[in-house]
Amino acid sequence: LSQLFHPRSNNFSRASIVLVMVFGGALLFALGAFQTTPYVTQVGVIREQPVPFSHQHHVAGLGIDCRYCHHYVEKSASAGIPSQSICMNCHSVMWNDSPMLAPIREAYKTGAPVEWSKVHDVPDFVYFNHSIHVKKGIGCASCHGQVDKMQLMYKENTLQMGWCLNCHRNPEQFVRPREEITSMDWKAPDQQKLGKQLVKDYHIQSKTDCYACHR
Ligand code: HEC
Ligand code: HEC
Ligand code: HEC
Ligand code: HEC
Ligand code: HEC
Repeated sequence: LSQLFHPRSNNFSRASIVLVMVFGGALLFALGAFQTTPYVTQVGVIREQPVPFSHQHHVAGLGIDCRYCHHYVEKSASAGIPSQSICMNCHSVMWNDSPMLAPIREAYKTGAPVEWSKVHDVPDFVYFNHSIHVKKGIGCASCHGQVDKMQLMYKENTLQMGWCLNCHRNPEQFVRPREEITSMDWKAPDQQKLGKQLVKDYHIQSKTDCYACHR
């Protein structure tokens, strides 16, 4: 090689290797940082919905329990989105000419489902189940944040693997009494002590094997 190339080209290729390493590193770093931007994680991003439904109004204002509308949350994998007939329990008599509620009245008449846009969605290769978490004393607020303060729904947490694992490794920092599952402002007087006790009482194990979530 030394016969074919001028010594200077050797320096040049050395410099280009260094350049590739520097830029490659910067690119990887940027991609890593990108993974945590709202553009990727959708944290805090509000989606357009057919009706501007306010959890703040209905939960904090009217005191309706989550399970009135999301009634599968204790029994099945998914929590479920309420049908228009649940809204009409009240809105056939209250605010029954509000223009904002026109899509609900229309859906009630035709029977076609309201097309809510999904805010939380883990990829298909991830297994998630609400009822398991509810039974083991993990509250809605631990994963969805203070929904009662949300004028419009958004994602409070990334739902990425590292976030799931942080709790699966340290469930005692999050577990609460089952009676407080849907409470939005519950706080343990001493989480460390109560957490340890509940982990024992509810037989909570630290599930971190891949198969738990990728089955
Ligand atoms: C009066 C009915 C009602 C009540 C009560 C209610 N919700 Fe909802 N919830 C809805 C509707 C309708 C949607 C779909 C529209 C939206 O995303 O805002 C929804 C959406 C959600 C979503 C996002 C779903 C998605 O697309 O990912 C979460 C999380 C949620 N609710 C949690 C709760 C929690 C926690 C409570 C109790 C503190 C609660 N809700 C109480 C009606 C209700
Ligand atoms: C238990 C009764 C009840 C149920 C069930 C209920 N709402 Fe309401 N909703 C109310 C009341 C009361 C208000 C007025 C609240 C206020 O302004 O403080 C209201 C207000 C609203 C408003 C604002 C209307 C306006 O013109 O300002 C919208 C939109 C709405 N509800 C959508 C829904 C949807 C969608 C559902 C079903 C997922 C639903 N509600 C279920 C009682 C209910
Ligand atoms: C351990 C975390 C965790 C807890 C606790 C939790 N959720 Fe969820 N929730 C999620 C995840 C993750 C999704 C997305 C599921 C998917 O994409 O399949 C979700 C989705 C939802 C949805 C959208 C519809 C659906 O089922 O996919 C609603 C509504 C909801 N949650 C309500 C609730 C309510 C109400 C509670 C409390 C009773 C609750 N969640 C407790 C993590 C949690
Ligand atoms: C705030 C705490 C918390 C978060 C966040 C959380 N989990 Fe869990 N998860 C638990 C607890 C506690 C259990 C019950 C463990 C046991 O069986 O003793 C559990 C159990 C499970 C199980 C059942 C495992 C089995 O083999 O029985 C699955 C599946 C699961 N979680 C998936 C997820 C996924 C996916 C995410 C993230 C999107 C997630 N979890 C986020 C606390 C959490
Ligand atoms: C507590 C639940 C949970 C456990 C346990 C878990 N994962 Fe995941 N994993 C997830 C979730 C949630 C995602 C989706 C992340 C996203 O949407 O960005 C994921 C994504 C992935 C991906 C796709 C790349 C990525 O980071 O998005 C791979 C590969 C993966 N997991 C491998 C594993 C392996 C290997 C193990 C065992 C050492 C494991 N996972 C254990 C929840 C889990």
